[in-house]
Amino acid sequence: MPIQKTARIWHNGKFIAWDDAKLHVMSHVVNYGSSVFEGVRCYGLPSGPAIFRAAEHMQRLLDSSKIYRIDVAFTREELVQGMVDLVAGNGVWPCYIRPIVLRGYGEAGVNPFNSPTEVYICNYPWGKYLAKGDEGVDVCVSSWTRIAPNTLPAMAKSGANYMNSQLIKMEAIVNGYVEGIALDAGGYVSEGSGENLFVVRQGTLYTAPLANSVLPGITRDSVLRLAGDLKIPVVEQMIPREMLYIADEVFFTGTAAEVTPIRSVDKILVDKGTIGPITKALQKEFYGIVEGRQPDRHNWFTAVPVGAKQAVGV
Ligand SMILES: Cc1ncc(COP(=O)(O)O)c(C=O)c1O
Repeated sequence: MPIQKTARIWHNGKFIAWDDAKLHVMSHVVNYGSSVFEGVRCYGLPSGPAIFRAAEHMQRLLDSSKIYRIDVAFTREELVQGMVDLVAGNGVWPCYIRPIVLRGYGEAGVNPFNSPTEVYICNYPWGKYLAKGDEGVDVCVSSWTRIAPNTLPAMAKSGANYMNSQLIKMEAIVNGYVEGIALDAGGYVSEGSGENLFVVRQGTLYTAPLANSVLPGITRDSVLRLAGDLKIPVVEQMIPREMLYIADEVFFTGTAAEVTPIRSVDKILVDKGTIGPITKALQKEFYGIVEGRQPDRHNWFTAVPVGAKQAVGV
């Protein structure tokens, strides 16, 4: 889907016009992938727009920056406020919010220290990512391995990691699948190109620990907490590939994917290919909260105070 532009973008604490958010081709990030970023959703609750787990996303952005020795001149709270002001000012919601920290135009060599840090926050309307409606998606195990430990850090959400994700995603698409699941360097289940993965077997919910090259997903964390609320037994452990083929239920989680059931893996149906009871129960809780049918009992939302009328696009 082409990006639907909004009026303004937050840049280093000030607003600029969408069309003015331009970079020089010799910026460090263009040549060496030196960026970290976030993907955040702002939902349209009956009470108004509200950003899902804003502080946790901005903490992860600062964590990613710290791993890459990027000094960010804004606190977590200032960045959260930047998102709130942006959504309120653009008057566009529900929306996706994309904060980016990057190394800009400075020196041409690999050493990043002399290129300035730029912080941008953009927002734009966005709908479902992987699946429309209630059907699960058909996925494959990728021939591409997820980034190995001590190569590119998987706990940082860096732009460069998404070169690996693009290989996984493209291979899946050209072979007729919606998404690919990557194994880690040891051959254990890691995650999708842009989603964490959960498996259900005999009433227990399994997900890979962070040491299997997975991003510490905010939706992953939300689902783990919801599973706790529902008293579903949860085990974070290494998952062998074959577990995917004999699982009772498999689903993806992510800001974009939300909670997306998986119908088949490598053309092997997950159980009978229908959405299983634990996935359904977790979807009910998750969508109940993000669609405002259930109270925000975990305090996951940051309200966006708005007087202006909702306007999608400009
Ligand atoms: C590689 C990868 N894993 C997992 C996730 C899910 O993380 P979150 O739930 O924070 O969006 C994402 C999405 O950001 C991702 O790109």
